[in-house]
Formats: sequence, structure tokens, C-alpha cells
Amino acid sequence: MCGIAGYLGPKAADAVLLVALERLKYRGYDSAGLAVLNGDSSIQVRRAAGKLTRLAAALEVAPLTGHCGIAHTRWATHGPPNEINCHPHLSADGRVAVVHNGIIENHAALRAELSAAGVVFKSQTDTEVIPQLIARNYQGDAVAAVRATIARLHGSFAFAVVFADQPRRIIAVRQGSPLIIGRKILNAGKAEPAPMELLLASDVPALLPHAQQACSLEDGQIADLSDAGVSLCDFAGVLITAHFKPIEISAEAVSKGAFDSFMAKEIAEQPAVLARLLESRLRGPERLVEPDLGLDLTAIHHVVLLACGTSWHAALLGKRFLEQLARVHVEVDIASEYRYRNPVADSGTLVVVISQSGETADTLAGLRLVKSKGLPVLALVNTITSTMAREADGVMPLLAGPEIGVASTKAYTAQALALYLFAVQVAKAKGLADAAVEARCIDAARALPVQIAETLAAAEADVVECADLFHSAEATVFLGRGGEFPTALEGALKLKEVAYVHAIGYAAGEFKHGPIALVTQHLPVVCLCPRDALYDKMLSNLQEVRARAGRIIAVGDAADQSLRDLCDHLFPVAKAADELLQPLLTILPLQRYAYHVALRRHCDVDQPRNLAKSVTVE
Ligand code: M6R
Repeated sequence: MCGIAGYLGPKAADAVLLVALERLKYRGYDSAGLAVLNGDSSIQVRRAAGKLTRLAAALEVAPLTGHCGIAHTRWATHGPPNEINCHPHLSADGRVAVVHNGIIENHAALRAELSAAGVVFKSQTDTEVIPQLIARNYQGDAVAAVRATIARLHGSFAFAVVFADQPRRIIAVRQGSPLIIGRKILNAGKAEPAPMELLLASDVPALLPHAQQACSLEDGQIADLSDAGVSLCDFAGVLITAHFKPIEISAEAVSKGAFDSFMAKEIAEQPAVLARLLESRLRGPERLVEPDLGLDLTAIHHVVLLACGTSWHAALLGKRFLEQLARVHVEVDIASEYRYRNPVADSGTLVVVISQSGETADTLAGLRLVKSKGLPVLALVNTITSTMAREADGVMPLLAGPEIGVASTKAYTAQALALYLFAVQVAKAKGLADAAVEARCIDAARALPVQIAETLAAAEADVVECADLFHSAEATVFLGRGGEFPTALEGALKLKEVAYVHAIGYAAGEFKHGPIALVTQHLPVVCLCPRDALYDKMLSNLQEVRARAGRIIAVGDAADQSLRDLCDHLFPVAKAADELLQPLLTILPLQRYAYHVALRRHCDVDQPRNLAKSVTVE
């Protein structure tokens, strides 16, 4: 939630920071701003409510001069998304500017204390207490002022500070929200010490293309960026060595390329993503690599899967995979529920957290809760530099590449495949899958990339036709059974979040217990009907909708004439070689349907209203 950036180097800071914000806007995009220092002992600030283009337009008219600055793109928590609440926030004397991500939980008490001392606040944000406190603590030693301020703050946060009288310096703090420092050595070998370009960002893609190396701050660390380089210390002031590693993400991976949106690009990337993930897990054509998770899988009799949103839908698929293949008892929990209900979890329980970003606050809190109970935690994450990846006992990377569209698409199918492969691994450890079963599962997974490409191509014309017909429908229902129930939930979530259509996903057998009252001749009902073990039951549910004149869009086999006879429209999908993997194909036309409906409703698919890619607040 919210993106922070910083720059110190030879280039125009406003231009560099604008590019960084462009790459961070998936974290929040309701307002943006930046502060630049130009050495005249003042802090220049530019802020704009609304999308980043408004800030860019303001800078076009009046650029900020200077080579050091900080910037922010916001997802509002405290105070509406107007210009006054937009970051950077300044101290009352204008000498300190701060950009912040996270929440200062005791901001009300601090605001009351500072107000009583005569400080006048301008915004309604929790953030504004930070520059006010720093300014009061500042007597020429920037790090000391920041340390004294941190001692007063409760909550989870990351922030960056600049001082009017220190025009080539940025102080950055991490306590619960991600922050990464990037650097590029300039004129290496020609000067001693070599001059550097330094950057700061909430996520690695924002460091591109200006940085070659990155160093992820840990919680409890303060970074001091200046022309002398980067100096790290902990909150007690003890110096720490900064370890920089080469940045491996390419600039292409974070651009739209020939696509009109990241969502379209990321849907299209799924064949390559799944092929890469499977490849990374194969040892020879028929054996899976058993990643060293530092865990004894034979002792596991209970698995808890924790996640939020789309990742939670993948977890529901994971439950089926683990139960069917490895016969272990599996619980799936929404992380924000799990963490507050004092769950029962004994030894022999493995907790798996599933997250694209690896930073989702509720999932991270769930991870920390179970770790405090001494249980092993496996993290299935896409962002390998994330907090979850660092704090879990074992990590399974999804290798989906940066997912920038707010709607999760390629990460979902990658999570599903990773969970399937994990289930095979647990089944092997428990002696429930022999070499033949393992080879059959690998073959089924190996067929997926081609089947995904075929399905995306084959379903497109019908998806477009239905989007043309139904984009004005007030609501849409998605029905599925078994493995297709998570698909129904995920299809509904995609349509809600990118097209703002009220949509529900329902277990088809449960629909008759109330929600069927919604059906009229105006309601599109998407029925997930692959030829699986519950196909006949699903057709009965479809008939119930048809009998009430609902407009049926079926998802199933192109050659299924009985299904064609019963539905109004059909999205054809390939048949997975293992029925358990079918949901990785049936979701594809629903991703494209949400995309096309959104376009027809003039929605911004990459930055839907009210959302942010990474939800780092509770
Ligand atoms: O990064 P995570 O996978 O932990 O994110 C969880 C959810 O916030 C995320 O899946 C969200 O539901 C997406 N916008 C769905 O498309």
C-alpha cells in the first residue's frame, strides 16, 4: 500500500522519480507527489490528487530543479485522497519532508501531544506526525533525529526523509513495510571512491533502469544515503554492513511491450510462466526436484493454507490437490480471519502461506503468528526478495516474473501449479505416489503451457461476443463444483475488481438454497462444466438456471454437444490430462472476459478504483 521512491545522483531528480512512481503506481494511485532539494536550503514540493498523469502534467508546466529527492504514490488510509493529504508531508517549519508507507498506529496521541505544544497540522494523515517529530528532534544530526522519532512511533511503516539544510542526503527507515536501496557505480575504476547514483524504492522494478545492484533493508534498519555512499545502522545506532546484490529483473519484464495493459500481457504470459515453473522443478523428464525446504514432509499430518484474495482461491485448489494426492487433512483460511481466532495447530502441522507479493500484511501476520507457536512455515511467493520469503522456513518461488496489473492472473495459475507439484512431493514423501504416479502428474503438468495457449486462442471470439452482449448487465453469477468452485470465486473476483460488475461465485450445488432467487432473463450465469467427475451434477444445476430463464454462458469442451444444447454461449477450454489441473484452464476465458467487459465499461484494468496491488495494511 503506497509506494516510496528516492533518488540521489547527477540526473534531474524529478524525472527519475516520476519513472520510479510509474513503476510503483500498482501499489496505490489515488494521488502522488515529490520533494526535490536544489541546495538553496529549501524543499520544493509538487503534489497532485488523482492519477500520476496529473503530477506529470504539473511537473511539465513547472519542473523541480535538483538532483536529490523523494517521492510517493498513495493508497489512502487516513484522510481522503486529496492534494492536502498527498505526500510528501512537511514539518510546520518546512525544513523536513517525509514520504511514508504503512500506518502509524499511535498517530492520534502524537498529534494531540504536538498540537498541545503548538504544532499546526495541515493534513488528516497519520504520516504528518513523522516530519513534525523529526523537526523537533533535529539539531543537525539527521540520523539521531530520525532515531529519536522512531522511538515514539508504533505500527508498521517505511519512510524516507529529506532535510532542507542537507541537500545531498536521504534517510530511510524500514519497520514492517518493504524498502530497497539501489545503486549504480559511475565511472568505475576512474575515480576513487567511485561516484554513485543511489535510489530508494518500495519494490525492485522501480529501481530500474538506474540501478545495477540492490540491498533490501531489514526491519529495524535505518539507511543514510549521501554522496559518501550508503551507511546502515539499527534503531540503536549500531552500524551494519550493507550487502548489495545484482538486480536480475530486466526492464522488459516491467514494461507492457506490445500489449495495451499489464493485465493483457500477464494473461498472455501464462504458457511461458507455467513452463518455466515446471522446468525449474524437474530433475530429468519424469522426476521432480525436491526443493530443500528444511522440513520433514513425512511427519506432516495436517496442512494449513493461509492467503488473501486470489491467492486464497489458489489455496482452495491446493486443498484439493493435497487431499486427493497426499491424503492429508487440509484447512484453508483467509489470513485476516486466521490471525484473530487463536487457531488450534499442533506439531505435525505445516503452514503454507501463499502470496504473489510476499508482503500482504494479513498473510505476513499469519506467518508470524504460527512461527511464534513453533510451527514450520513454507512460503509460496512470487517476489523472492519479499518479507515472507525471508521469514519462512522454506520457500517455493513461483517464478512468474513481476506481476504489475492489480488483478492477479499469471500468479494465480503459477500458485495453482506450484501447489499441485507440492502435493505430488508430499504424496511421494508419504509413500502415496510411486514413480509412475509422479511421471503421470509431470506429464499432465507439462501439457499445460500448450493447452493454455490453445484455450486462450480458441475461447477469444466467444469471450468477445459475450462481453459485447453482457457488459451492461448489472450482475453476473459464476457457478462451479469441486475444483471449479474456486474458479467460480476467482472469475467473480476478476469481474468485480476490474469491471466493477457485481459478481458472485457460488458452489453450484448450494445455489438452490437461496441465491437462485436472483435468476431472471437478464442475469448472465457462467457455469463451469468441464467433463469431470461432477459433470452430470453440474449439468443438473445448469438446468435449474435454464428453467428460470437465466442467460447461460458455459465453460467446457468445444465438442460437448449436450452442453452446447443447454447453454446460450460456450467458452471452449482444452481438457487437462489430470482432472485436478482442469481449473488452471477453465479460469483463462474468465480472466479474458473480465478484461473485455472492463474495456467496454471504460475501466482502467491495470489500476482499478480503490485498490492497490500489495495490501500492506491490516
Ligand atoms: O500479494 P498477495 O497474493 O498476497 O495478494 C493477495 C490479494 O491482495 C490479491 O490476490 C488480490 O485479491 C488481487 N487484486 C486479486 O486480483
